[in-house]
Amino acid sequence: MREDSVTIDNGHLKLIGKACELIANSHTVVAFTGAGVSSESGISVFRGSGGIWQKFNPALYGNLPGLALVFILNPERIEAFVREAASAFAVAKPNSAHESIAKLEHAGFISGVITQNVDNLHREAGSLNIFEVHGNIFRARCLKCGAREDLPKRRLLENITTKRNSSLKRRELLRLLDKYTGRCACGGRRRPDIVMFGEPLPRGIFRRAMELAMKCDCIIAAGTSAIVYPAASIPEYAVRKGATLIEINPERTGLTPFARLWIPLRASVALGEIFKQLTGKANQRAGKARISAKA
Ligand code: APR
Repeated sequence: MREDSVTIDNGHLKLIGKACELIANSHTVVAFTGAGVSSESGISVFRGSGGIWQKFNPALYGNLPGLALVFILNPERIEAFVREAASAFAVAKPNSAHESIAKLEHAGFISGVITQNVDNLHREAGSLNIFEVHGNIFRARCLKCGAREDLPKRRLLENITTKRNSSLKRRELLRLLDKYTGRCACGGRRRPDIVMFGEPLPRGIFRRAMELAMKCDCIIAAGTSAIVYPAASIPEYAVRKGATLIEINPERTGLTPFARLWIPLRASVALGEIFKQLTGKANQRAGKARISAKA
């Protein structure tokens, strides 16, 4: 990550001032988030340096048939992958990017958050109108009847991420996964309710996320490389429908050419400052209104 993504200078403040104007003058504002927003909570991004797909090939580890193959040939690698990927989820807490998005919603500046993240951190931060287009790792889905149920966060820690002296055998791995997700009331086996490569997105959620994106007039894309489809089509459609795109990412992405504003900062810094400026302005306006009402 570039050095200037850490500090905020006058140039950044100007960009943030413009972003606040765009947000304040829009009717419906939506946040669209990716792994970069949770990276400051200790969860690895997928791509780029330190990304999980650099250590584990996504062609194998990002889809069920690939995982099944590794499971048969090399169960120790599955254990390493699950432990590496899951342990950060189990202990992560929302950072100020999640908190600012939640506070912006509560203050009436944004209408909702569409996220590709499965870590539940937007909900933990207090966001209400959340569209998890890639699912949620703290929810189980029944393979037989499709019923979904939330799982307690600590169960991931207790079952999947506990360090052991020796590698687990295949049967033990399956037993632990079963213990994590539990069985459905219908008796069916369950799996974590996340979307892997090649799988369809949860239809109702994706449709409603798309509807919100189509009607918004401003979309804030934060912490995403926006290269995984169909989720990445959400900000693209919003822009095609006339929405203004504000991008928050220390790096340029495929979305950057379509952005009215690109803010090359960490999401926690940029969103924290946006919230501060917007609520500062709102308080000033309320103060002026109170004074003129008294006069
Ligand atoms: N603030 C803002 N952006 C950041 C930060 C930060 N603190 N740290 C990293 N980034 C940016 C990176 O520059 C990168 O562009 O976040 C982006 C993360 O990109 P990816 O790792 O590709 O994550 P994401 O876009 O969410 O991936 C989409 O890919 O493998 C699948 O299903 C997985 O939902 C995921 C999808």
